Amino acid sequence: MSEPAPTVLVFDSGLGGLTVFRELTKARPDANYVYLADDARFPYGEIPEAELVPRIVAVIGDAIAKHKPDIVIVACNTASTLALEPLRTAFKVPFIGTVPAIKPACANSKSKLVSVLGTRATVSREYTRSLIREFAQGCEVKLVGSAHLASQAEGQLQGEPAPDARIAAEIAPCFVETNGARTDTVVLACTHYPLLLDRLKKLAPWPVDWIDPAPAIARRLTDLIGASAAGRPRSARFIATSGRPLSPELAAALAAYGFSPQIAENA
Ligand code: DGL
Repeated sequence: MSEPAPTVLVFDSGLGGLTVFRELTKARPDANYVYLADDARFPYGEIPEAELVPRIVAVIGDAIAKHKPDIVIVACNTASTLALEPLRTAFKVPFIGTVPAIKPACANSKSKLVSVLGTRATVSREYTRSLIREFAQGCEVKLVGSAHLASQAEGQLQGEPAPDARIAAEIAPCFVETNGARTDTVVLACTHYPLLLDRLKKLAPWPVDWIDPAPAIARRLTDLIGASAAGRPRSARFIATSGRPLSPELAAALAAYGFSPQIAENA
């Protein structure tokens, strides 16, 4: 008899985790997915740490009790760089976090000028700074905290794209030119940002490698729960803590990601 399909809980403050979800479903199309957005408290990047840790542990804890996942993907840098340890202490289920991809970015940079673009919280975290100390490999790493880019990415999926000038202003500090060398690699250290990738490429003052951690997270998933067995149907549910009705634009976007028609659910 074949094994039952695993249940994978994917968590983010909002819609950014969809960029990770997309890669996970390619790696394990047969799994049952529960996507949990803590949109009642979005954006996490502007919430003080002391408030955020208990919030994340409580929201994920409720979802674990309710959905009994086999594995939890914290598809949010702002949450992972702060709460992975308390989560692993509180719950037995395995967790995969999303943290800034500083090691591969620095390993591949030719100019040795790398920028890390994340929420203001993520770039200020000790976790992120320790990754730089350990893995900069001779690169000059610039931390760029953005207050608005995650909300602009949400706006894009909600059918309200931000004007070019506002996005360009958020990414401008990533681009450094010094002694004839230029930044050649930007780490997307917030899962929302790949939602804007086409626009980031278009608005960048020069071409760079944009490092999206999602494929590496999907590889980690198959390392931990194995590769896909063909032929099983996948289910995907979208749950939002606010319980707000979905806009028609977002409902259409979620359907395109493979969520079932009954997509609006309260946590
Ligand atoms: N998607 C989240 C991240 O990866 C953050 C967005 C936010 O809530 O500020 O950091």
